[in-house]
Amino acid sequence: MLWTILLVLLLLIWIRYKRFGSVYKTDIQLNGKTFLITGGSSGLGKATAIEIAKRGARVIIASRGEEKGQKSVGEIKLKSGNSHVYYMKLDLSDLDDVRRFVQEFIEKEERLDCLVNNAGVISSMMSQNGHGEMLSINVLGPFLLTNLLLPVLKETSFQNPVRIVNVASDVYLMAELDLSNLDVTLGENATMRNVLAQYGATKLMVIYITTELNKRLRANDPQCNGITAYALHPGTVGSTTLGAGYSHKSKFHTFMRFLTFALTSRPPFYCCQTVLYCCMEDGLQSGGYYADMKLNDLWPHAKDPTVARKLWDRLEHMTGLY
Ligand SMILES: NC(=O)c1ccc[n+]([C@@H]2O[C@H](COP(=O)([O-])OP(=O)(O)OC[C@H]3O[C@@H](n4cnc5c(N)ncnc54)[C@H](OP(=O)(O)O)[C@@H]3O)[C@@H](O)[C@H]2O)c1
Repeated sequence: MLWTILLVLLLLIWIRYKRFGSVYKTDIQLNGKTFLITGGSSGLGKATAIEIAKRGARVIIASRGEEKGQKSVGEIKLKSGNSHVYYMKLDLSDLDDVRRFVQEFIEKEERLDCLVNNAGVISSMMSQNGHGEMLSINVLGPFLLTNLLLPVLKETSFQNPVRIVNVASDVYLMAELDLSNLDVTLGENATMRNVLAQYGATKLMVIYITTELNKRLRANDPQCNGITAYALHPGTVGSTTLGAGYSHKSKFHTFMRFLTFALTSRPPFYCCQTVLYCCMEDGLQSGGYYADMKLNDLWPHAKDPTVARKLWDRLEHMTGLY
């Protein structure tokens, strides 16, 4: 009898966890502001785009698949009631395409109030530029995109404060960073453990990029009046395609992925709340790492300033910035 009650209680707690979550409450309206959300065509990015569009911003979603992107624009417009939602094609795995995208963005858009670097993958494949897809899409592409968009972000920051929001993940906790070998070669037969280790490493890099970017921005703007930058963990996102491409090759991977998401994921609406919080809440700590709408203290292996500086230099070199 006691066991049955305990089991029912656990089940109820789990259902509550799965179906409900904290919601970011704010009266802030975003009319006149422009948001760029990479990977806004599915999962977390789409949920974020809907909520930002509801508040009146001009929203541009950027992703690889044009058809999927255009379809998502229709859905975001419908759910938000905002017609100023647009799709722009962007392949973060291709640095030339990132440069083309920025050129097109600057030609079309007058301002950028918030860049949400959300797109990310779990993959064992190589990209066309010879780097692993995970390093390319999760790190190199967003790093180059952010740096090339800095002039338009700076320009906009003369009118009002602007933000860069980088979607990382708590998997960084289990990750290690080898600065002499950022681009671990995986391939089709890579084990799940190796793939997740490299995924974690790319998310650790995203955190380091955010803290180093903040440091560089603060050198000229100690009061945080202009551009601020944040990293975050969104929780485990339901309705995601993350890792689907990798896991379909093995029944075991497919099952483990299904089990993980079935047990721990929440609807994207709840997972995007911390993204919204980092996009809009006042008084946040620039360079900080947020989860569940709270500032989290990073573990020591994620806050070594020497690693941050060396990583930044290395990424500048790898992306051809210097
Ligand atoms: N899912 C989770 O539980 C979880 C947990 C922690 C952190 N995160 C992070 O949250 C972010 C969003 O995850 P999600 O679950 O929403 O993923 P998702 O459903 O798989 O969506 C990924 C988005 O990224 C885009 N994308 C993929 N490759 C791209 C490329 N080369 N260039 C441009 N866009 C590309 C996709 O567009 P196309 O399909 O058109 O390529 C899609 O819009 C990722 O950074 C992920 O690492 C997720």
